[in-house]
Amino acid sequence: MPMLEVVCLMFSSQPELERLDIMNALFDLVLEKLHHMPIDPNESHRILDIGTGTGIWAIEVGEECPTAEVIGIDISPTMPLTVPPNVKFEVADIEDAWNFSYPFTRIHSRYMAGSIKDWPLLMRQCFNNLEPGGWAEFCDFDIDYYSQDGTLTEHHALRKWLTTAYGAEAVTGRTLRPGKMLQYWMEQNGFHNIQVLRQPLPLGIWPKDKKLKKIGFLNWTQLWEGLSGMSLRLYLDCLGWSAEELELLLVDVRKDLKDRKLHVLFDLYTVWGQRPL
Ligand SMILES: C[S@@+](CC[C@H](N)C(=O)[O-])C[C@H]1O[C@@H](n2cnc3c(N)ncnc32)[C@H](O)[C@@H]1O
Repeated sequence: MPMLEVVCLMFSSQPELERLDIMNALFDLVLEKLHHMPIDPNESHRILDIGTGTGIWAIEVGEECPTAEVIGIDISPTMPLTVPPNVKFEVADIEDAWNFSYPFTRIHSRYMAGSIKDWPLLMRQCFNNLEPGGWAEFCDFDIDYYSQDGTLTEHHALRKWLTTAYGAEAVTGRTLRPGKMLQYWMEQNGFHNIQVLRQPLPLGIWPKDKKLKKIGFLNWTQLWEGLSGMSLRLYLDCLGWSAEELELLLVDVRKDLKDRKLHVLFDLYTVWGQRPL
């Protein structure tokens, strides 16, 4: 099956949509706001949400800015049918050439790790389709698990699962680690006033701090729920493993995920910048 179809199937399944709802709760808690780029609800806006998924961000920004026109694009028809009148959804491949009739005042992209083949091209299309003075915001992960206290090592199945999955990046051409590159790609494409927020997110309920514990719980739940689906795509479709080989590895990955002595983190980057006037 062509890789793009595999991506579409994976993102439109019911368990995946439920996982995206968990991720949305996670983003709410971590980011504490819908967007970091300025959006004045009293100004008229045309806002694009790339890879909109369940459409929740587009709907919420449409409610926050009732006079704005909001468009959510996704390659899979995963968006709800009932939406505010100023929000609309389109099914399209964001990596194709863009032919929007008017430029946008704001462009938003969240959690596209593992989905985009050519990030510099995506940034260029964003830049070219923004009004001068318009802002773009990219919020994405570096899916690279680590610990600050040495509790997670390269011998753990969780690390092996991940480093093997990196092998699939070569097959799909879609990086799982765009987070730390976002600033560079924005600079290369002419954005200025770039600001960067890096947030290490715990995986699991090991933190003592109450809020971090909640974040860790949501993060753990989304990975626990998504583990099989993600692995099937990466290991069977891309790397050619057998289902039996994969299940053997996942037994140990699940053991690591249940081990509260492992203080695992990975980083979320939110980067926003402006097209010069
Ligand atoms: C991990 S989800 C993130 C969804 C949403 N942005 C959020 O934060 O909840 C990635 C989304 O990107 C969509 N996607 C992947 N490749 C795409 C492409 N080439 N063009 C448009 N959408 C794409 C998937 O269908 C999926 O809904």
